[in-house]
Amino acid sequence: MIRTVAVIGAGQMGSGIAQVSAQAGMKVLLGDVSLDLAEKARDKIAKGLAKLVERGKIESDLAATTVANLHTFADHAALAEADLVIEAATEREDIKHRIFESAGQHLAAGAIMASNTSSIPITRMAVSSPDPERFIGIHFFNPVPLMKLVEVIPGLATSVATIEAVREYVAAIGKEIVLAQDEPGFVVNRILLPMINEAAFVLGSGTGSILDIDKGCRLGLNHPMGPLELADFIGLDTCLEITKIFLASTGDPKYRPAPLLQKYVEAGWLGRKSGRGFYEYSGEMPVPTR
Ligand SMILES: NC(=O)c1ccc[n+]([C@@H]2O[C@H](COP(=O)([O-])OP(=O)(O)OC[C@H]3O[C@@H](n4cnc5c(N)ncnc54)[C@H](O)[C@@H]3O)[C@@H](O)[C@H]2O)c1
Repeated sequence: MIRTVAVIGAGQMGSGIAQVSAQAGMKVLLGDVSLDLAEKARDKIAKGLAKLVERGKIESDLAATTVANLHTFADHAALAEADLVIEAATEREDIKHRIFESAGQHLAAGAIMASNTSSIPITRMAVSSPDPERFIGIHFFNPVPLMKLVEVIPGLATSVATIEAVREYVAAIGKEIVLAQDEPGFVVNRILLPMINEAAFVLGSGTGSILDIDKGCRLGLNHPMGPLELADFIGLDTCLEITKIFLASTGDPKYRPAPLLQKYVEAGWLGRKSGRGFYEYSGEMPVPTR
């Protein structure tokens, strides 16, 4: 049973994972490159919970116990206490390998090590962990407290006991599982990214406008958001990067990035985070750029 969860990387995903685990009554250890960053992340989670209490979305008792369950750490030696260590650091393979090597030195016997990576193969990262049988992918969705789904990705050596322990953890935090094999993009991104890329092809060929592509998918496919709006949320650089990974790892030309997607990224039009992607975000309402 998972009682203590350590989260390495206190950015948007790591903070969300820490919050939902603490909210489910687990003790959480939260770390980043410095104690200062981890503490800032904990304060931000506490502020977010206080707002939810103000708006009547959660009880003040739950907010208080959640914050009390959150502890920060600076040294990987603290990880010896954890039953489950989830890495949610920057999406760079060298960074992640270094984390698994260092954190692995303190991993308790029987404890599980996991990565929240969106695109790096689990089997390849497992070799840097102390025991590939106890290494697994746990892929959360953004924003973690709101999104119900978690993809669970066993590597080649992951044991059935590890998968079962992670199933119990995911159930305990109130989320649903999709079991995916260790293939590029797992299940959800493997379907989503080609759709976003295709939407950029459709736009580039003049088949439809930005507004009509998004409206078509919202009303015709019953998607809550069109693919171009969603791409702006994810970040066009991230979308391009993942598409390139699909192309490189499968060699299948169906994954070639849409020239217009590349052009937007080259222009620095990266989506909401840069103020402009397929839409411009300077006014109250997003305005299409074409
Ligand atoms: N953003 C998403 O929608 C999303 C969804 C699913 C999975 N992911 C994955 O989650 C991971 C984190 O993404 P994010 O969006 O939270 O990024 P982010 O930039 O918000 O956070 C990354 C954090 O990792 C920290 N970090 C970097 N090196 C570290 C190290 N050596 N030790 C500890 N912390 C370190 C950074 O300081 C930063 O706080 C990535 O692997 C990403 O692919 C992201």
